[in-house]
Amino acid sequence: MMLILNGSKSTLLGEKIAIDLGIKFENVSTRVFPDGETYVRINTDVKGRDVVIVQTMFPDQNDSLMEFLLIADAAKEMGAKNIIGVVPYLAYSRQDRKFQPGEALSIKTVANLMKAVGVNKLITVDTHYQHVKPGEFDLFGIPCINVSAGRLLLDHLKEKVDKDLMTIGPDLGSSEMIKYATGEEKILKKVKKCPICGKPAEQCQCRVKKKKYEITEVVSEIDFTGKNVVILDDIIASGSTMINAVKKAKSEGANKVAAAATHGLFMKDSLIKLKELTDYLVVTDSIFTPVSNVSVAPLIIEELKKIN
Ligand code: R5P
Repeated sequence: MMLILNGSKSTLLGEKIAIDLGIKFENVSTRVFPDGETYVRINTDVKGRDVVIVQTMFPDQNDSLMEFLLIADAAKEMGAKNIIGVVPYLAYSRQDRKFQPGEALSIKTVANLMKAVGVNKLITVDTHYQHVKPGEFDLFGIPCINVSAGRLLLDHLKEKVDKDLMTIGPDLGSSEMIKYATGEEKILKKVKKCPICGKPAEQCQCRVKKKKYEITEVVSEIDFTGKNVVILDDIIASGSTMINAVKKAKSEGANKVAAAATHGLFMKDSLIKLKELTDYLVVTDSIFTPVSNVSVAPLIIEELKKIN
């Protein structure tokens, strides 16, 4: 018998999933001690049950992760049969390789911690980890399912903006998501240019350090003239990728320009900027924001039904 335990970061989403699935849920008691440490308590019997922990990992990635680990460990100690993590936004999935010698492979550490507290399976949404396609993948020994919110976001935009929308990815990293959502692959490209000679990095002879090359231009061969466009991506973090793509579409003659992403981190004032720049802005409830108008619940429910 499946039981849903909601962490403090995804209470509403977890309740929605449980109610729509028709299964029992409990909001785990959580609090933070005055010194900053996390406390959790599960107030229901989980012995012999398949426990689903719903906990996204933004904001406060470290605290959210710790809370998730404590809930999982407590459930294991209480005799849960299986522990399934539903983590819509999987923190640290952008540090999915060592970009420089000596760096931590952070997502591997996260996976190891999850394994140590008995997590048997993970369901996540449009994870950045290695840009994996929707479907099953292995996260350093944890069987994972990645679902994509791209099609749900586009259905929503067709209702709110226009039936006839041209969908564009803002960079190479979005290509799998775009292909899955539309069957096509229209993406913009970022060109890194040398701050000294101004040439694209691959043509430059200045030998500046790799990280000093700045992205100065967004290029595309797409005809935007008069089109209603949606720029679709997995994450809006600083917002700069999305803002540049929106500006590009506008400057090339697009009619309406909407921005959509699965995860809205919206650092600094990027939410305000994007609201001003676009005709419509939407993200999912993988992270709760004022523009989280599409729910990932149906995607997660579909996967949980296969397990239950
Ligand atoms: C990159 O590959 C990702 O798909 C996003 O485009 C990126 O993480 C967005 O970051 P930011 O909002 O900081 O530009």
